[in-house]
Amino acid sequence: MKERLQKFMAKAGIASRRKCEKIILEGRVKVNGKTVTQLGSKIDPQKDVVQVDGKVIRNTEKKVYIMLFKPKNCISTVKDQFKRKTVLDYVTGIDQRIYPVGRLDYDTEGLLLLTNDGKLAYRLTHPKNEIKKTYIAKVKGIPSESSLDLLRRGIHLEDGKTSPADVVMLNKDNQKNTSLIKITIHEGKNRQVKRMFAAINHPVIELKRTKIGKLTLGKLKPGQWRELTDKEIAYLKNV
Ligand code: URA
Repeated sequence: MKERLQKFMAKAGIASRRKCEKIILEGRVKVNGKTVTQLGSKIDPQKDVVQVDGKVIRNTEKKVYIMLFKPKNCISTVKDQFKRKTVLDYVTGIDQRIYPVGRLDYDTEGLLLLTNDGKLAYRLTHPKNEIKKTYIAKVKGIPSESSLDLLRRGIHLEDGKTSPADVVMLNKDNQKNTSLIKITIHEGKNRQVKRMFAAINHPVIELKRTKIGKLTLGKLKPGQWRELTDKEIAYLKNV
């Protein structure tokens, strides 16, 4: 399929789409050996040879790695049949076809990674790799330490027993009859944290993912995103 020259260049990671337009206008781009200065030009990425400043641009997408503070009321897919907000309504201006690494529920907020690096996404979501994910759960009631021990040891859910979890009581609100609990798991069963707390009769009221491995949200606010640093990317590739 043909595509616009500046889009092809942006996906390959040359620069932003706007900057690529400038590079074209500056006469620095050749298609099949001929300089192209028209912005409307389309190319066939399979067949045409594109050069920028004499260097051939390969027909591959640059890998991008993004951290989003997923807000509540937003779905962790790239499209939604019910026209609800998706994570891509927040992460705008990226030319590559990114998708979320794993999922957070519609009403869960917090750290979500997005990438077009299929290999990394697969590794991070494979149970064998056991990357830790940390959540803060506001739950109904005040669970006893012995109830929390059930989660620490692993609890039976309908699709099997969970692996041992790290569970820390952060705050008990006797007046509101709620608790704030930090829980770290390394599996990704569907709605796992909510089902774990439901199993000890302390349903989750609010859930936020604060960490993936050692990556944290830092200064991001709900709906904000940033690209990962080279150090963070190297870390994820080696966990
Ligand atoms: N566990 C849940 O129950 N929900 C999430 O969104 C993530 C983990």
